[in-house]
Amino acid sequence: MTAHDRYAVLTRVGQGTPMGKYMRYFWHPVTPDVNLKDEPVRVRLLGEDLVLYRTKSGTLGLVRERCPHRSASLACGMVEKDGIRCAYHGWKFDLSGQCVDTPAEPADSKLKERIHVPSYPVQELGGLIWAYLGELPAPLLPRFEFLVGEQFDRDVGVSIMPCNWLQIAENNMDPYHVEFLHFMYTNYVHEKQGKPLVPIRHHAKVDYEVFEHGIIKKRLWEGESEDSDEWTIGHPQIWPGTAVITYPGGWLQAQIRIPVDDTNTIIYWYNARPRKAGQEPAKHIRVWENPLRDTRGQYLKDNLNGQDLMVMYTQGEIADRGLENLGHSDRGIVLYRRMLLEQLERIERGEEPMGVVRDPKINTPFIVLPLETHVDYDLTNARASPDHGWNEVGKNAAE
Ligand code: FES
Ligand SMILES: [Fe+2]
Repeated sequence: MTAHDRYAVLTRVGQGTPMGKYMRYFWHPVTPDVNLKDEPVRVRLLGEDLVLYRTKSGTLGLVRERCPHRSASLACGMVEKDGIRCAYHGWKFDLSGQCVDTPAEPADSKLKERIHVPSYPVQELGGLIWAYLGELPAPLLPRFEFLVGEQFDRDVGVSIMPCNWLQIAENNMDPYHVEFLHFMYTNYVHEKQGKPLVPIRHHAKVDYEVFEHGIIKKRLWEGESEDSDEWTIGHPQIWPGTAVITYPGGWLQAQIRIPVDDTNTIIYWYNARPRKAGQEPAKHIRVWENPLRDTRGQYLKDNLNGQDLMVMYTQGEIADRGLENLGHSDRGIVLYRRMLLEQLERIERGEEPMGVVRDPKINTPFIVLPLETHVDYDLTNARASPDHGWNEVGKNAAE
């Protein structure tokens, strides 16, 4: 079996595929809560077109987009206090997706009793709205500290990426790229621009540790002592593909990769920043764009996030693993792929994959992840912040 054949299965997330089944064991964010006003919004997740709405009584609903009458989009529907009504002929669906009204039919019609639109569980947490597209009963929505810690205010940068989720998630299993993409390449760009150079650092060694919620990546920089916490603790990539990093000042960043379908991914750069003493908690999560390209269509070559987005995207719509030549420095990538394949085997055997949370004791008050004090490299060229101005309304994550 070629590498292409071995790994292609990890890139397909549609319904009924092995990876699609795996992804459906997890809750995924579909939009920041500030994006959901009093109109339904379209969201696309794992290849499924869905409509998210909040009823007048405040309950969230998530249904398949196509009306089962004659396929009009329920995103154009009318939200009522206990469901959504299609704009075309007024069929109404309750929160479970059951059709409860077909007003153009005779009063004694039983048609509605056999009409159901698929619906899915949906919850709010940490300023995001999360959906679960798998089999019931749904597992718990994991309460990670970055989502629920009361000491934080939160914002989320949104990157719309027209490529497969896996090559994006693999980036965090590849520590060595920091030396080259973020140091050496930054200096290549800075030299041309006449900007100051960043210090170059080298890895002395890296290591990986598998734990229930994911894989911990550890690095020791040359010249640092072995008790540095980037080496003794490291930071994790949690299943299925979210990296969690601590930046200076106790600022936590979760890089959440949301597989829209096989060739589109949304990245949430979800920041939980410790509030300053005496500061009022923010009422809402703030949403901003973290684009793949600038307004002139150029990659953002001289900042950390822009560099990552550039290389992730240019690997191809779905990176062909058959074209790769992996070396010793790629063993984190190999481990991650092997662990994902193992999760698919578990499902085949009728077992649950790692990281599915069903025990409330694990989830209360929140799940503690191994996290170093902060990553110790120069962030002056990062764009992990909305430094080009807030976009208070944000974008629909599916658009
Ligand atoms: S298409 Fe929705 S009610 Fe007719
Ligand atoms: Fe990077």
